[in-house]
Amino acid sequence: MTYNYDEIIDRRGTSSYKIDLCKSRFGTDDLLPLWVADMDFRTPDFVMNAIRERCMHEVLGYTIRNKDFNQPFIDWVYYKHNWQVQNEWIGFVPGVVMGMSTAVLAYTNQGDKIIIQPPVYPPFFSVVKNHKRELVLNQLIFENGQYRMNFDELKKQAADPKVKMMLLCSPHNPGGRVWSKEELQELAEICAQHHVLVLSDEIHADLVLPGYTHTPFAMVSETAKQNSITLMAPSKTFNIPGLGSSSYIIPNKNLFNLYDTQIHHLEIGAGSLFAYTATTAAYNYGADWLKQLISYIQGNIDFVSMYIQKHIPKVKIVVPQASFLIWLDFSALNMTDAEVQDILVNKAKLGFNPGTTFGPGGSGFHRMNVGCSRLVVQEAMQRLHTALEKL
Ligand SMILES: Cc1ncc(COP(=O)(O)O)c(C=O)c1O
Repeated sequence: MTYNYDEIIDRRGTSSYKIDLCKSRFGTDDLLPLWVADMDFRTPDFVMNAIRERCMHEVLGYTIRNKDFNQPFIDWVYYKHNWQVQNEWIGFVPGVVMGMSTAVLAYTNQGDKIIIQPPVYPPFFSVVKNHKRELVLNQLIFENGQYRMNFDELKKQAADPKVKMMLLCSPHNPGGRVWSKEELQELAEICAQHHVLVLSDEIHADLVLPGYTHTPFAMVSETAKQNSITLMAPSKTFNIPGLGSSSYIIPNKNLFNLYDTQIHHLEIGAGSLFAYTATTAAYNYGADWLKQLISYIQGNIDFVSMYIQKHIPKVKIVVPQASFLIWLDFSALNMTDAEVQDILVNKAKLGFNPGTTFGPGGSGFHRMNVGCSRLVVQEAMQRLHTALEKL
């Protein structure tokens, strides 16, 4: 079956975060909303059909995960990432951010320190600060148009006995880096040496682009496997983030028990009936849809890359290695973040995520979401070109 990713679907009137919060975030809703990280594509037919079929029974009562619930996920992780996970390492949590917040509570105490690597997805800051833990910023190094980790600084930071955990974003949002096995091994060794537990948020892992391979953090060594918790989800992959579904994978029995207990204490272990239905269908039938999706997204990224190089060379694109988010560098325009934001919103009528919301290192950048029809991407590029030409 050939899927049509060109179709433009009107999402207005669906209480969409991306559309309905435009006015409060940008001061206007008269713009192309290319910010929040969901895609504008139709949720796949095999997921929708499973939900419709379940709706044929008109009692939507409390629903359990049956004993085979994890199997499609186990098969998927093996198929996509060559990682053979065991059933007893896995649990359900209704969202990756909720999963990170749970880990902060499960493994650290108030006043402990937690390392993150900005610029990074904003909840990495809030899950630490909200629980009165202290942030340690191991800022990524931006060099030759790409990001790399600052291991020299990480070694010093991890050696502080108050540092108990590190939140790793792999692949990285917003820079789109797919960390190499060697980078992850180095990180694993530094953290294990100083008893710093690693939480690896791998929500974007299934969306690795052609030419790159995602290595699950827990696979890089036995040390990493025993000193980590991994979060994965079907939400980005199959465009079902509104359903709240994700999985934790914790091979270390003691760490698993601590986490599982925390999930129970917070009473967040039960997901919605539709999360279960959609997750099972997505992992069972999603391979072909995802292959076509990745190829389409790569086409969108190539279009943006070529358009920018040809028409707007002052804007630099940090070419993503995974996912549908493009980190654009406007620093050569020599304007303040507010000035660039004003041009994007009021002249180009584009809603991108301001880089400053991703913390230190984000200034000068804006994040564009290309998980949408090529026609929308083309329109966005033309708008940007016209707005910057007028300067
Ligand atoms: C790195 C990363 N983690 C987590 C999330 C959100 O996960 P969830 O909706 O499952 O809480 C996002 C969404 O953009 C993300 O980019």
